[in-house]
Amino acid sequence: MGRSRKLTPHRWKRLPEPVGRPVGLHSEALWLLCCLLSFIKMKKVVLVTGANSGIGLALCERLLSRDSEDLRLCLACRSVTRAGAARSALLASHPSAQVDLLPMDTSSVSSVLDAAREVKLRYGRLDHLYLNAGIMPNPQFDAKAFFKGLFSSEAITMFATGGGILTQKDEVTADGLQNIFATNLFGHFLLVRELEPVLCQPGRTSRLVWTSSSNAHRSAFNLEDIQHQKGTQPYSSSKYASDLLSLALNAHYNKQGLYSSVICPGFVMTNLTYGILPTFPAFLWTLLMPVFWLIRIFTNTFTLTPQNGAEALFWLFRQKPESLDPYAKYHSLTSGFGISYTQPRKMDIDLETAESLYEKLLQLERDVRGKFEGEAKLGSTS
Ligand SMILES: NC(=O)c1ccc[n+]([C@@H]2O[C@H](COP(=O)([O-])OP(=O)(O)OC[C@H]3O[C@@H](n4cnc5c(N)ncnc54)[C@H](OP(=O)(O)O)[C@@H]3O)[C@@H](O)[C@H]2O)c1
Repeated sequence: MGRSRKLTPHRWKRLPEPVGRPVGLHSEALWLLCCLLSFIKMKKVVLVTGANSGIGLALCERLLSRDSEDLRLCLACRSVTRAGAARSALLASHPSAQVDLLPMDTSSVSSVLDAAREVKLRYGRLDHLYLNAGIMPNPQFDAKAFFKGLFSSEAITMFATGGGILTQKDEVTADGLQNIFATNLFGHFLLVRELEPVLCQPGRTSRLVWTSSSNAHRSAFNLEDIQHQKGTQPYSSSKYASDLLSLALNAHYNKQGLYSSVICPGFVMTNLTYGILPTFPAFLWTLLMPVFWLIRIFTNTFTLTPQNGAEALFWLFRQKPESLDPYAKYHSLTSGFGISYTQPRKMDIDLETAESLYEKLLQLERDVRGKFEGEAKLGSTS
């Protein structure tokens, strides 16, 4: 009966029925394999870094709530235990969903290379890559900058973004890179470069989405110190660099069907935010919530919940990449009534600086790869 049916794309999606179904045991097996492959192929593959908590996990939940049938979701996380718990939570509300785990520490070059190899073997395609993992370790509160900002026209911006009042003490990774730069930016850059064969495929568009921040300031970034070894705002620098990098990636990869966008989730209560005041007891944060809701009436950037914060990430999933502005940052916003929406805002970036950063990142990639190959050779001769 399947043979006489006309297969519209819609029907084909749901029903991998035989078209001129062959006879004979081998052909039958081959046909079944083809059906299975085409079925697997049709699922969109979405990879989210830092998917085990906060905004990343909320995005996964929202994606599965929209369409768990046509999606293959991959949670790329540094902790297998935390990733496993996140997977169980997602499957509890979406039992038929396909949710895979991928161990990846974005601050480690070898971990990123291993993870990328695994993605290429496992999927062969990648439709959406959410570059979301991020850290703001050892934040220090700059009281002087706070009181100065309090009486300036930038007071609300300061509250909403933490800009200027939060400094961080950075560390150096085992690869010799600055930790915040490696985690938030370089590991993701390397991942994109490694995944080029699955992201850039003829006849298909793929997407990169960076979780940036309003705390991405040109003043914190220096082309002569892209890892921010000398300054006190490595987080802001890494986020500004991701804004620039997204622009450069668009310039280099759009013709190959790969598009990049950046978002800001707003001010969201997550592990990252709680880490700003680690000694602040949890119940005080809870007591502060009504105050934050009040502030939201005046500033819609107080999205507060991870679900609201993931709004722009989720919104972008549904847009045609060609229709997006590479110079815009897509902001998750929440109104005083708790209604979430997405709004594009122009970024303070330019193509010349973006290209210079891109060249520097390519050079760093060559250096890092060279070091790795050198070490591997040394290992094989010793
Ligand atoms: N919360 C906000 O108000 C806010 C505002 C602007 C931008 N953002 C950005 O939003 C993104 C998500 O943060 P969040 O607020 O949802 O905080 P979160 O709950 O702490 O989530 C951060 C995620 O990144 C992961 N991660 C950290 N370092 C990693 C590494 N080396 N390798 C792999 N994964 C790593 C974390 O894994 P572990 O659980 O293992 O630590 C976690 O899953 C970050 O890029 C952050 O900069 C947040």
